[in-house]
Amino acid sequence: MRLALSRLSDFPCRATAIDLGSATVRIHVDGRGIVASEPSAVARARDSGRVLATGTSALALAGRERGVRLVHPIRNGVPAEAEDTEGMLRALLRSHLRGGHMAKPRMAVTVPSGINQVELGAVRAVAYGAGARRLTVVPTPIAAAAGAGLPAEGEDVAIVADVGAHVTDVGVVLSGELLSSNVALVGGSTMDQAIIAHTRREYGLVIAPVTAEAAKLSVGSAIAVRDRQVLVHGVDVRTGLPNTAVLTSDEVHAAIAPALAAIVRAVHAAVADCPPEMAGHFISAGITLTGGGARLPRLEELVQEETGLCARVAPNAADATVTGAAELLRPFRGYDPGWTPPDRTAAF
Ligand SMILES: Nc1ncnc2c1ncn2[C@@H]1O[C@H](COP(=O)(O)OP(=O)(O)OP(=O)(O)O)[C@@H](O)[C@H]1O
Ligand SMILES: [Mg+2]
Repeated sequence: MRLALSRLSDFPCRATAIDLGSATVRIHVDGRGIVASEPSAVARARDSGRVLATGTSALALAGRERGVRLVHPIRNGVPAEAEDTEGMLRALLRSHLRGGHMAKPRMAVTVPSGINQVELGAVRAVAYGAGARRLTVVPTPIAAAAGAGLPAEGEDVAIVADVGAHVTDVGVVLSGELLSSNVALVGGSTMDQAIIAHTRREYGLVIAPVTAEAAKLSVGSAIAVRDRQVLVHGVDVRTGLPNTAVLTSDEVHAAIAPALAAIVRAVHAAVADCPPEMAGHFISAGITLTGGGARLPRLEELVQEETGLCARVAPNAADATVTGAAELLRPFRGYDPGWTPPDRTAAF
């Protein structure tokens, strides 16, 4: 069954595209570009549960005040806490879309291609609750391909692997539709968690997710690099007192290796799911990596080594999905979201 959302391009008000990421919410407004890129976070008071802040200010508040509980309402690319997701989106739209034109915009929201009907219902409720007049739901690989300018001139097909914080969404896109896709619950945040577990196990040191992420950004690489190290601060598990450890690039690589293998498996699965006649197209099209996680140094080399297909990172990797979703809302694209989630059981 096709989505009951035909052409949305015939409405005059400014189209708004949203990437509801597990780590970052990105908002694009037609004619203005990306107006927001803020952490997916809500700060609530521990005692009363009252919402105190959202996005960047929520993170800042939780960092300096003890009585604040930080909620990450989007998990695995879908709203896990519907009320907080909607409140966060409404607040971000209000603060970044000042001006009269934003009353009830047409909206596009990107979703993981493996989303189920219940999750899709949650996304729709959040979008309409946050003020959408009409909604286009775009699977991430289709948005990422459009945002990365794919398929390239002379190609019919594009293979896109969007590596986010929680989700790696790989799709083979043919004529604007998903020929196949594979979603794995792995991403940059999985790597951070692996670094946390390693540091606790080897050094008896508990480090914060933000510290693990900084270590990954400092010495992490998809192909092992030697002789680099990073100092991390944390809390000693035995004494409860502040302590430090030095992590080498080899250790960080070993810690994130299972996550990297899972990313490679997801790419394999999406490509292997396609008919053999596509093989020639794949060789010339290659694989394009998008998402923040694609910026891990040498990830494209690893994917290329493991799949035998040429791989590259899109220049606008982190913003490709929201840019692409915005592109698909433009009048001349007339995107027809003829896509249904994999279980194909209900209309929406
Ligand atoms: N230069 C970099 N090297 C390695 N990882 C990076 C780099 N820049 C960003 N990342 C990682 O990218 C991840 C965030 O990517 P992105 O913003 O695409 O996620 P998201 O869309 O919020 O999440 P998801 O798509 O899983 O819902 C984080 O884990 C972050 O650490
Ligand atoms: Mg994402």
